[in-house]
Amino acid sequence: MRRFLIAGNWKMHLVRAEGMELVDAILEGSVGMPADRELLVIPSFTLLHTIAERIGKRALGLGAQDLHWEASGAYTSGVSAAMLRDAGCEWVLVGHSERRDHFGDSGEVLGRKLRAALAALLRPIYCVGEHLEEREQGRTHELLDRQFHDVLDGLAPAEMQRVVLAYEPVWAIGTGRTATPEIAQETHGFLRSLVASAYGQGVAAETRILYGGSVKPENASELLGQPDVDGALIGGASLMAESFLGIAQAGGQHTSGAQKRTGKT
Ligand code: PGA
Repeated sequence: MRRFLIAGNWKMHLVRAEGMELVDAILEGSVGMPADRELLVIPSFTLLHTIAERIGKRALGLGAQDLHWEASGAYTSGVSAAMLRDAGCEWVLVGHSERRDHFGDSGEVLGRKLRAALAALLRPIYCVGEHLEEREQGRTHELLDRQFHDVLDGLAPAEMQRVVLAYEPVWAIGTGRTATPEIAQETHGFLRSLVASAYGQGVAAETRILYGGSVKPENASELLGQPDVDGALIGGASLMAESFLGIAQAGGQHTSGAQKRTGKT
C-alpha cells in the first residue's frame, strides 16, 4: 500500500527564526497523525542543518530543493548530495518547474542530478508538469512522456523504487488555480502507465505520485481522494502550520490504486 506523502516546499521563503517557529508548530501539530501519511519539509539550504537538529528523531522528513550533480569540485554555489546528507536530508526535489524555467535545468542536467541523489542514497522527488499552452494544445501527455523518459530512462528497477514523482501543472503553481480532481487523476494515471511500461506493474503500483499546484486545506480532500494521487507537494500553503497540517489531515484513508486492483481493503 502506498502511504500519503505530504511535502512542504518552502521555496525562497523564511529566515531562521521563522523556519524554526514553523517547524516547531508542525512537530507539535503532527503528533498522532494517522500512520498512512508521512510529512516532509523542504526548506532553503541555509536552514537545513538547524531544522534537522530541531527535528531530531521525530517523525518529520527533511528535504532540499535542489542539488549539484557532481560529488565535489570547483562549482561555486553548488551543493552536493553528500552535503545534503551531511545536513540531515533524506529527500531532494529534482526538476521543479521553477528550476526548469528560471534556472534552465535541462533534461540532461536533471538526469545527472537525479542519479547523483540516488548514488548518495537520497530519495529524489522528480517533478514534471505542463504549461498552460501545452495543455490547451492537447500536448500534455507528449510533454510528460518526454520529461519522464529524458530523466528516468535506464535506472535499475530498485533505483526507480526510490523515486517519488510529482505532477505539478505549471499553470496551477502559485496561481490559486488548481487542477480539478478529474484532471489530476487522469494525469496521474497516465504517469503511472509510463512507470508500468518502463519498469513493470509491480514498480508502478508502488510508486508514489504527488500532486502539486495551489493545494490548500479546502481542496486537499478531493485531490487526495483520487486513487492515483499519493500525496501533495505544497508551496504557499506549507508556509503556515495550520494550512500545512490541514492538508496533511485531509483525504481520509488512502484508497491507492494498488489496493483497488487487488480488491483488498
Ligand atoms: P503552490 O506551489 O502550492 O504555491 O502552488 C506548489 C509547488 O511549486 O510545489
